[in-house]
Amino acid sequence: MCGIVGYVGPKVDGRALEVIMEGLARLEYRGYDSAGVALVAGDHVVTTKRAGKLANLIRALALEPLPESNTAIGHTRWATHGAPTDENAHPHRGGQDGKLALIHNGIIENFHALRSALIDDGVVFLSETDTEVVAQLLARSYDKIGDLTEAMRQVVAELKGAFTLLAVHADEPGVVVGARRNSPLVVGIGDGETFLGSDVAAFIGSTREALELDQDQIVTITAQGASIINFDGTPGVGKAYHVDWNAAAAEKGGFPNFMAKEIHDQPHAVADTLLGRTNESGALVLDELRMDEAELRAIDKIVIIACGTAAYAGMVAKYAIEHWTRIPCEVDLAHEFRYRDPVVNERTLVVAISQSGETMDTLMAVKHARLLGARVIAICNTHGSTIPRESDAVLYTHAGPEIAVASTKAFLAQITACYILGLYLAQLRGGTYADEAQSVMKDLCEMPAKIQTVLDGLDRVREIARFMVDTRSVLFLGRHVGYPVALEGALKLKELAYIHAEGFAAGELKHGPIALIEAGQPVFVIVPSPSSEHGLHDKVVSGIQEIRARGARTIVIAEEGDEDVVPFADVVIRVPVTPTLLAPLVTTVPLQVFACELAWAKGLDVDQPRNLAKSVTVE
Ligand code: AGP
Repeated sequence: MCGIVGYVGPKVDGRALEVIMEGLARLEYRGYDSAGVALVAGDHVVTTKRAGKLANLIRALALEPLPESNTAIGHTRWATHGAPTDENAHPHRGGQDGKLALIHNGIIENFHALRSALIDDGVVFLSETDTEVVAQLLARSYDKIGDLTEAMRQVVAELKGAFTLLAVHADEPGVVVGARRNSPLVVGIGDGETFLGSDVAAFIGSTREALELDQDQIVTITAQGASIINFDGTPGVGKAYHVDWNAAAAEKGGFPNFMAKEIHDQPHAVADTLLGRTNESGALVLDELRMDEAELRAIDKIVIIACGTAAYAGMVAKYAIEHWTRIPCEVDLAHEFRYRDPVVNERTLVVAISQSGETMDTLMAVKHARLLGARVIAICNTHGSTIPRESDAVLYTHAGPEIAVASTKAFLAQITACYILGLYLAQLRGGTYADEAQSVMKDLCEMPAKIQTVLDGLDRVREIARFMVDTRSVLFLGRHVGYPVALEGALKLKELAYIHAEGFAAGELKHGPIALIEAGQPVFVIVPSPSSEHGLHDKVVSGIQEIRARGARTIVIAEEGDEDVVPFADVVIRVPVTPTLLAPLVTTVPLQVFACELAWAKGLDVDQPRNLAKSVTVE
């Protein structure tokens, strides 16, 4: 989820670079492992780009100023392909003459095949990115056609995946061309100047008149305005609107805080994490793993290590991975793993889950696992961070930068990545679920839309959160994959609203915790699908009866159409019908929104809760 800015102004000695740098500063929260700019100056394109924070680019530009220009593009990167280095930073140049520069937000799923074909054709790549492949394709197309808009239209027809692209060419000063598919791009209409941005924060300092683009559209901007065509070449139109957010709100996409924004980003986070992980026939391909298949087939045990929310993602994964692969799968809190003298050897696969990739407890556990001879796969959201570097292989989530300390979209992305890994192992090892893997992947690909359905129906959750602003204790019950969801729901409430909250396995209730139930005690219950095996659903419903009979205030998360829960629920929160093992991707969302809304109603700092850090880099 990178930051993208484009600009065309009235005068060559204008403010192109100033506009781009101001826009990148406002977008830095979207991605900040490298940044770069490209200007059309005279008959050539000049670029400066640096790894690291935007400050590095600013320093580089101060040391080697760029010439004046009225046509420019700029980019802050959140790496998806290729580590955060100067070479992998955007913009990327295309063609032998270097007259074209391109920036990109998203994931080109078929870039491997496109890159191989270009290499066979003699192209020498300078970076590891999917973006440079597009830059080379676009330069070739431009050399044939001589028109940047039409060249872009030809190229996007070859691309699969999610992308926002902006390009400039030295032979077309005063023009920036953009294209979007499944990735944001918005036009800013100024007075004699025109802007492009991944969101309105890119240009809100200059204009509040915007044009929303539709899917599969190409926009060509000049100082006079914007013209739009569809990928099929027919004329397109944008939806004009006035931006009434202030700059701070714009960075949060109009949400009150980053956490709310990131909760609503979850359909994209899951969809992007799924992108590029199956081939044309639907089989799972994890080229990025670069692990010997024979080694993976020989694995006889899996140990997942992580902390906090990431550990709860691992607990969800355990149920799925064991079911699909029939490999025993343990889950350890990383800070416990090292000290319990674990039974680990060269046939153990350790999976380290970490959003930041810098959690010291998890890092030390990774080092310990490798000392014991295990192979380690990291599941991480931050390219180039320490834990992936210390692991044998990495499966990146593509949730984009998670700014709020409380993890939300990374959690769903981690669960998704664990599912992908489990299905890949099942496919590799054959057995019951090898052929099933593809149908489960199809179910997974339907999950972003189901998450969106839940997000669209949470007004009641927000209402009860505001009503419960003075509550002193909340319990969360779940069973099977609902148990780690209950733990995560309790953690969200603890870390955001500073309220005592506890998650239990619903089956554990009668072994003690039921003593906590008294009149008015709020209890969230995550109910399995009525179609789940082993009669889990009925067992949980009888648990709701028991606590309701003792005065509990029951807030029940249940599938659409599950009427059994109604007589025992004070509140029913509905989620779409979902395969049991995938249900955490939808049942977690109401709990995230509840905690966020209650903390917000209490006037607390939702994005930076007291005592917490986004990455715990000490043991
Ligand atoms: C989650 O809301 C917390 N911020 C915390 O539990 C976090 O998940 C944990 O510290 C692990 O962080 P990591 O994923 O970056 O390793």
